[in-house]
Amino acid sequence: MRRLFVAGNWKMNTLAKSGVALASGLAAELPASHPGVQVAVCPPFPYLSAVGQAVAGSGVELGAQNASQEKPGAFTGEIGVDMLVDVGCQWVILGHSERRAIYGETDELISKKTAAALAGGLSVMLCVGESRTEREGGQTEIVLDRQMAGSLSGIDAEGMKRVVIAYEPVWAIGTGLTATTEQAECAHRHLRNWLSTRYNSPLAEATRILYGGSVKPQNARSLMEQPNVDGALVGGASLKLEDFLPIVRAAQSLRPV
Ligand code: 13P
Repeated sequence: MRRLFVAGNWKMNTLAKSGVALASGLAAELPASHPGVQVAVCPPFPYLSAVGQAVAGSGVELGAQNASQEKPGAFTGEIGVDMLVDVGCQWVILGHSERRAIYGETDELISKKTAAALAGGLSVMLCVGESRTEREGGQTEIVLDRQMAGSLSGIDAEGMKRVVIAYEPVWAIGTGLTATTEQAECAHRHLRNWLSTRYNSPLAEATRILYGGSVKPQNARSLMEQPNVDGALVGGASLKLEDFLPIVRAAQSLRPV
């Protein structure tokens, strides 16, 4: 059985004080690693060190929200993989729809970032997902296939051991509109079949596929109960301990120790 994974994507939110308070609160509630449920928080770059210190030794891991594909050098404003490892990150979110839509990240760029992150020792949460227009136009699976093929171009089966897929339908992000459990399960099954065809069946069975898009304490359990939904990538509800913790607890209730 795949270990569930609940990750908080704080996006461009919190300041040092509120971020550290949130992380400390979470670390106090999750003092040790849980065999059935992995937990991570992904704060903004300036707070990675402080949040990393707040969760050090607890059951909470640290991730970044983006990384450069380049080696250290003249890239003003960019953050390299080695720097993220240096401040204690195990994870990096790549290919988030906000990076794709607002900052023009292409599948080709995302595949370079994925390769650089894996080479540097990070694990990757790779986000894919269709827009509302694409879903309404019956293009969901075509879009997912294109994003998967492009973003994972050049990534071999060995590298995939450190990749988690996050299915985040764009129309469900920050909108309060959650995919139904059927919509989520159907897309996740499709993604797992894609992994099986592109790589192999054991790899597809081992790879975790998280759901993201308006995950809340109220809907987390029913989503994570789906056979192909292996956890959640949580945005807004990860910013409050009283929302994020029940999502983690829901996951733990599905993987009792
Ligand atoms: P919301 O949970 O705020 O919809 O955001 C989801 C997301 O984009 C996580 O990466």
